[in-house]
Amino acid sequence: MSQLKNDRYLRALFKQPVDMTPVWMMRQAGRYLPEYKATRGEAGDFMALCTNPELACEVTLQPLRRFKLDAAILFSDILTIPDAMGLGLYFETGEGPKFHHPISSKMDVENLPVVDPELGLGYVMDAVRTIRKNLKGEVPLIGFSGSPWTLATYMVEGGSSKAFTKIKKMAFAEPQTLHLLLDKLADSVILYLNAQIAAGAQSVMVFDTWGGVLSPRDYQLFSLQYMEKIVAGLTREYEGQRIPVTLFTKNGGQWLEAIAATGCDAIGLDWTINIADAKARVGDKVALQGNMDPSVLYAPKERIEQEVSDILAGFGKGEGHVFNLGHGIHLDVPPENAGHFVEAVHKLSKPYHN
Ligand code: CP3
Repeated sequence: MSQLKNDRYLRALFKQPVDMTPVWMMRQAGRYLPEYKATRGEAGDFMALCTNPELACEVTLQPLRRFKLDAAILFSDILTIPDAMGLGLYFETGEGPKFHHPISSKMDVENLPVVDPELGLGYVMDAVRTIRKNLKGEVPLIGFSGSPWTLATYMVEGGSSKAFTKIKKMAFAEPQTLHLLLDKLADSVILYLNAQIAAGAQSVMVFDTWGGVLSPRDYQLFSLQYMEKIVAGLTREYEGQRIPVTLFTKNGGQWLEAIAATGCDAIGLDWTINIADAKARVGDKVALQGNMDPSVLYAPKERIEQEVSDILAGFGKGEGHVFNLGHGIHLDVPPENAGHFVEAVHKLSKPYHN
């Protein structure tokens, strides 16, 4: 870690002492930044941006030029895996992601390949290498993937969903088919994240955006079990450096003990749980990342500072906190408010560290 100029983020994940609480923002590169919109316009569309390593690097670095963020996150998307499996990802303006060939039968699942990241996803590894080179050791680079369950929801629903009827039908009418799909996805995610680590990702995060729509028993069965397999299959040390893994289940606050028991280094929290309660429950086992409601960024500076101050007080003294939003930044947030947030975390957290 010594080659990094700022290793606060990694130190916090390992619960080592820091001078102030590290901070980054989920979806920190994106449409709330005018420079992102300009680069995406230049690329043509979102996937053209993801598949061009120089432009993916450029948008990764854009938020770091504006704000004193303690980590960079690879610019890509969780849906690159299903795309590489042959589902044909596309984006329709205002409607979110869609697939030309969603999964609808047992045969579709049987025919699905496990992805070889070096073949289908080489552009992601090229982006990781380009970003690492251009970061020049300033801050660590986070790699990421979707969880098998969250990826499966998009693959079976054919895009974003509110009710998850198709995937739930598969879960209860044809559980073996869903398990085969989740297992192929878990194997693909392991290969994908390990390839990101070999290309230079210094930490990895698994986004389980939709685990929270399951009952406790089904969360264990269809989501957590496969994330546990991923944690066990990841490269946890690379070229002498420990690689931390963070699991984020949106609306997963009631399952923190089970998530911590997977062997992950950190849990990402959304804002529906009090961070003091989360720390009391699992703070001896894992680091915590979170957890301000992203909508607070619409508020005036004083209100943002108040919320940051409350969350810092909730976590209290001691190591193992990475400050973040509880979910992605909204696209109509004024960039200067994001700046107030990052500054507030650094300024107000100093008294909590020695
Ligand atoms: O800055 C970063 O955080 C890195 C880049 C990143 C993107 N997507 C870029 C993106 C990351 C980490 C993701 C993860 C992702 N993608 C998740 C998990 C995290 C979460 O937010 O819950 C999910 C569920 C997706 C799937 C996805 N991709 C959706 C639902 C959408 C459409 C919604 C939207 O914001 O338009 C995307 C597209 C997407 N991924 C955009 C960006 C910047 C917007 C595309 C555009 O420029 O129009």
